[in-house]
Amino acid sequence: MSGVDGVPYLAPVPWFPLPARLAVLLSGRGSNFEALAAACARGELPARIVLVLADRADAAGLEKARALGLPAQLEARRAGEARAAHEERLAGHLEAAGTDVVCLAGFMRVLSATFVARFERRIVNVHPSLLPAFPGLEAQKQALEHGVKVAGATVHLVDAGTDTGPIAGQEAVAVLPGDDVRTLSARVLSAEHRLYPSTLGKLLAGGWAVAGRRLTFPR
Ligand code: GAR
Repeated sequence: MSGVDGVPYLAPVPWFPLPARLAVLLSGRGSNFEALAAACARGELPARIVLVLADRADAAGLEKARALGLPAQLEARRAGEARAAHEERLAGHLEAAGTDVVCLAGFMRVLSATFVARFERRIVNVHPSLLPAFPGLEAQKQALEHGVKVAGATVHLVDAGTDTGPIAGQEAVAVLPGDDVRTLSARVLSAEHRLYPSTLGKLLAGGWAVAGRRLTFPR
């Protein structure tokens, strides 16, 4: 992630020509996609969404994208298909759309090292925990079962691991007495909807650096 031979990566200013061309990958409801689309529409995010790509036919986010008049494409993994072949089709759509930045928004697949390298430092993810705590599935349930008093959300660059890339932004959410997975997840989701657009905006502004695991923004 920090470049060949560990040389720190310094993002240009801006990171991409603005407005940046975003593609959103999702597998379900698509509320984080909606938060990104709303921030673009309000002019708060210097970007436009050029493609919404889903890997599940029942992803509600696809219909939400179409309702907003955005290009939306289903690309499910076929029965017995190798991951590499599926990812090749995903990458083909992303490149054909002229994607600058790939935004994962509830995309429930781990991307291979090959795919990540193809879009190196250009894939951003939102995760419903304060990473590195509780990576993977059901992060809010993991947090509750662990008994943490502070949960939260993280936006990070994607590397070849599962929820392991350099952290760009986090928002803490207090765990309240009586919380269950549903109530905690709802408050974490609200935090995600604030955090994802605002952190993406800081990334698009550029001038940040990645050295080792640390992503630092200019002062
Ligand atoms: C969000 O909570 C997101 O953080 C999570 O899936 C949900 C998608 O909701 N992603 C992950 O857990 C990825 N590791 P949405 O479809 O309404 O945006």
